[in-house]
Amino acid sequence: MREISTVAVIGLGTMGAGIVEVFARGGLRVFGVETTPEYADRGRAILQRSTDRAVARGKLDEAGQSQILGRITITTQMADLADVDLVVEAVPEILQLKHDVLGRLDEIVPEDAILATNTSSLSITEIAAPTRRPERVVGLHFFNPAPVLKLVEVITTLRTDQAVVDAVVALAQGLGKKPVVVGDRAGFVANYLLFGYFTSALRMLEHGHVSREDLDTAMRVGAGLPMGPLTLMDLVGLDVCHHIGDVIYSHTRSQMHAPSPMLGRMVTSGLLGRKSGRGFYTYDRPGGGQVVEDAQTPAVVAGPELRTVGVVGRGEVADDLASRLEEGGYAVVHVPDADDSEDLRRLVDAGLVVEAQSVDLDLALADLQLDDLRDLDEDDLPGRDLDDLFEELGEITGPQTVLATVNSAAAVALGALSGRPERCVVLRVHEPTGNGQVVEIGRTSVTDDEAVAMMRELVTRLGAEPVVCRDRVGLVVDALLVPHLNDAVRMLDEGYASVADIDTALQHGLGYPAGPFAMIDHIGADEVLAVCEELAGGTSGLPRESVEASPLLVEHVLLDRPFTPAG
Ligand code: CAA
Repeated sequence: MREISTVAVIGLGTMGAGIVEVFARGGLRVFGVETTPEYADRGRAILQRSTDRAVARGKLDEAGQSQILGRITITTQMADLADVDLVVEAVPEILQLKHDVLGRLDEIVPEDAILATNTSSLSITEIAAPTRRPERVVGLHFFNPAPVLKLVEVITTLRTDQAVVDAVVALAQGLGKKPVVVGDRAGFVANYLLFGYFTSALRMLEHGHVSREDLDTAMRVGAGLPMGPLTLMDLVGLDVCHHIGDVIYSHTRSQMHAPSPMLGRMVTSGLLGRKSGRGFYTYDRPGGGQVVEDAQTPAVVAGPELRTVGVVGRGEVADDLASRLEEGGYAVVHVPDADDSEDLRRLVDAGLVVEAQSVDLDLALADLQLDDLRDLDEDDLPGRDLDDLFEELGEITGPQTVLATVNSAAAVALGALSGRPERCVVLRVHEPTGNGQVVEIGRTSVTDDEAVAMMRELVTRLGAEPVVCRDRVGLVVDALLVPHLNDAVRMLDEGYASVADIDTALQHGLGYPAGPFAMIDHIGADEVLAVCEELAGGTSGLPRESVEASPLLVEHVLLDRPFTPAG
């Protein structure tokens, strides 16, 4: 196998230019090939900007920048590639175009050079088939931004030579990347899992379940991901997302991947994300990353003044809430014993009453679910039956008092019980992540905007970020994150990739704080399974395929076995 020291990248769009930078930073001599001088200039500008940014941040000095740029030759002549050891094509996702490019390279590059493709959606097998060297063709899939994200998916076909795989894996490792070797399947590892999650997120937005800002906040802050799904789609490009989504759907034919009509309309209208200056958000300029206000930017609505907040229940949850409310400047009336009707009467002037009974003092605030309450014997329950309590709260408090619970996912039921459906919400307090803390506010179709504005303000004053959504099982965070994790288990069960590969792919390809299996072990496989079952049995609105628990997940719960060695 020839040593890889000179490489070429065909196509200098965002990905191609990023790959050129990766190679040049790794000390390789790189040719970047474009079709016209204008496109060549565009590629040069991307490289200049990216390395300027590194210099501005003090990550690179000017001498280092000139060394990197000095290793790069940008050309419009494929004939310059007569001595390269490896070529990566990063041209648009059109099979015929890829065939044309590889056909020409076949004639120019040395017989034993490797032909790699950065395709994110097309079949490597189909790309390789007409070449003169299918055993030397491999997928080498980088992630955007290529200089930052460490994952490289190395995709093999039935004919790829093992020596070629070994060579590109060694090359990727030498560049400081994390290669994951997998077979040829639509979406490979990262995109396959990403696009199931994208599809559900798009459906939520399209159905008005949650606003674009709250959807992104839910996943960035609530789930701790580096970006919300809409911001990420804008970064990737909506045309690219639309195309990859279609390819995955054409293979799976699952509702989990059914194309979003809204995305199709956006692409047809030229709303392509950051690159066109407008996608789900509006940007300062085409290619810019600064979000600017537009017609959809939510107006800040002040809620009615709220002075006194009642907290019902004893234990960690209620105590924590009461002290945070006090710190937030509210007058707090804490009624630890929900059975004490006398004490409950102190809530008569409260503008908001939050039911926050603990079923188990050791349970974390975020872990409380109505099911926990139902599973316990009456005697175990330190608190009071919700139906009864909300009926009484409805009688004691004024008609404008907002009633909330952290223990139920059904504001509509509370509304019916208390006789004031327009003033009832559910609250879901999430564990803090590296990006902060989210409190979801579930509203029904009749909850009034004033009550919601008041809750938003309250959550903000508690130092958390509010996410308002329709009162459906799983709200936003659980409804998107848990099926995504379940999908990773399904991929493992299908034998496509290992736990380590899937975790590496999502941690280093999508910048997740941890891979999905590490996340499952952290949350608890039993908890993940419980949420899947709740989603499958409830009103989440998600397709069955995405919420049906993977049999392997069930197995791990029954065997009480973690997925990861550390778990
Ligand atoms: N080019 C080069 N470097 C960049 C960059 C870019 N476009 N954007 C950010 N960076 C660098 C910054 O210089 C900075 O580097 P240092 O830490 O060395 O200073 C680092 O990345 C972090 O940048 P910021 O602090 O400005 O921003 P951030 O912390 O918000 O991170 C992000 C930005 C790296 C994009 C991060 O949000 C992230 O990882 N998001 C997820 C992106 C993702 O999922 N990508 C995969 C999409 S799918 C795909 O690409 C495959 C496909 O086939 C479609």
